[in-house]
Amino acid sequence: MYQTLISFHSLVRWLVLISLIWAIYTAYKGVFLKLKFSKQHNLIRHWTATIAHIQLMLGILLYSKSPIINYFWKNTSVATKSLDTTFFGIIHLILMLVAIVVITIGSALSKRKATDLEKFKTMLLWFSIALFIILIAIPWPFSPLANRPYFRSL
Ligand code: HEM
Repeated sequence: MYQTLISFHSLVRWLVLISLIWAIYTAYKGVFLKLKFSKQHNLIRHWTATIAHIQLMLGILLYSKSPIINYFWKNTSVATKSLDTTFFGIIHLILMLVAIVVITIGSALSKRKATDLEKFKTMLLWFSIALFIILIAIPWPFSPLANRPYFRSL
């Protein structure tokens, strides 16, 4: 169960990144080419938020099953001395929750804006902030905070 969850969580990270980058690129084009906010743009907005929410669900499940998190909460005073356990116990959790809230707010605000330009601008701003936070909070193999592989076998 834990191995399957972590593999999915690792894989869905790429879907989160691809959808966010695609949404930001389309919003950028929308702003600068003054495009009409079409049904397709709306689908991109919607699916970007949905994929982030799927990753949130996987993350919450993983958080409840992970031996690292279990160790962290049972031995907090010792565990906080290790950056790796503190990263997954607190830093990753908080930053990713903030990023997903930012995506959710951005998506909802964009949907409610009156003009097409405002819809694109809102998406561009909020999704870019979320992408920045996510890039910091992913345990890349080169991250100074914690390191995990790019891919795991399912
Ligand atoms: C956009 C959101 C998120 C992304 C892109 C993301 C990405 C990742 C990645 C790439 C890993 C490393 C997987 C591996 O070891 O191969 C990871 C680990 C982990 N994530 Fe997330 N995550 C996100 C949100 C969350 C959230 C919201 C939670 C908790 C509620 C969470 C909990 C965890 C835990 C507990 C681990 C490590 C478990 C372990 O090593 O035992 N993640 N995450």
